[in-house]
Amino acid sequence: MKAITVTDPDAGTAGMTLTEQPEPHASENDVIVRVHASGFTPGELTWSATWVDRAGRDRTPSIPGHELAGVVTELGLGTTGLSVGQRVFGLADWTRNGTLAEFVAVEARNLAPLSADIDFVTAASLPISGLTAWQGLFDHGHLRSGERVLVHGAAGGVGSVVTQLAREAGAYVIGTGRAADQETALGFGANEFLDLDAGELAAAGPVNLVFDVIGGDIGDRSVDLVRAGGTLVTIAGPPTRQPADGRGVFFVVEADRGQLTQLATRVRDGRLRTGVGTVRPLDDAVAAFNPAERPRGKTIITLG
Ligand SMILES: NC(=O)c1ccc[n+]([C@@H]2O[C@H](COP(=O)([O-])OP(=O)(O)OC[C@H]3O[C@@H](n4cnc5c(N)ncnc54)[C@H](OP(=O)(O)O)[C@@H]3O)[C@@H](O)[C@H]2O)c1
Repeated sequence: MKAITVTDPDAGTAGMTLTEQPEPHASENDVIVRVHASGFTPGELTWSATWVDRAGRDRTPSIPGHELAGVVTELGLGTTGLSVGQRVFGLADWTRNGTLAEFVAVEARNLAPLSADIDFVTAASLPISGLTAWQGLFDHGHLRSGERVLVHGAAGGVGSVVTQLAREAGAYVIGTGRAADQETALGFGANEFLDLDAGELAAAGPVNLVFDVIGGDIGDRSVDLVRAGGTLVTIAGPPTRQPADGRGVFFVVEADRGQLTQLATRVRDGRLRTGVGTVRPLDDAVAAFNPAERPRGKTIITLG
């Protein structure tokens, strides 16, 4: 099968190559999916799981990409809950070959059924941003209606979904980013916007929840904006310090069929949209992930 592979952890997306690879094997509780659309987050080339298996052994050449939408073609021994021919979407396992390939083996529990009225491209843009937003707001942030939420990078992949879900849950959302992101963030539903480059961060005032996707100095300074009993949730890396009278939580997103289904329901009825940008076939994936100009929105690769 055709697949994008990487072999050099220092090469970044420039190290991506279109190659011929063996088709994957379905283990117990796996399904094989014929991938129709695939999402990729550049950050994953810095994660150790892209380069080594669970035992820490080198697994290059590895196939990146962990978001997928496609059709089940095979079931592993004893796999239940999904069937051959079913449309599915979800998050492929971090330590196995990923979704920038014609076929991928995934644990069935990491996928959810995909109804015919959601196209593959939209579905492939949803798993990482959607699950990360959901888990950060509700599992880790315990968001409640009426709370004030500071959402960093509110025009980006994760932040835009955080903004929409938080508003739907009844929160007051203060989005942040660069000046050029203001209209996009407000368009996703942020109540107000702060330009980080203009030094407006402190104007957020005390908030119940900070959702940080940026880290570094921005994450550090956001700790002081958490009001008593509040939470700073970050996906950028472990926080260097904790809020004085609150919690600081770093987490890595997990697959969850129930949450995928909740997200798909919201896409179907128009409550949630993702920022899909460039859409390219697999043959053009290397160029698409190494653009001359920084792309707006999420790049999705289509396969057949
Ligand atoms: N832990 C996890 O489970 C997990 C899950 C998903 C993602 N992540 C990580 O979270 C990060 C965000 O992911 P994403 O998909 O949302 O990325 P994204 O689509 O690039 O969105 C990030 C947004 O934040 C803005 N931003 C970044 N640094 C900024 C700064 N210093 N000042 C102002 N605005 C800034 C970006 O603007 P510009 O584009 O102009 O810089 C962009 O609008 C990535 O590093 C990703 O690897 C972690």
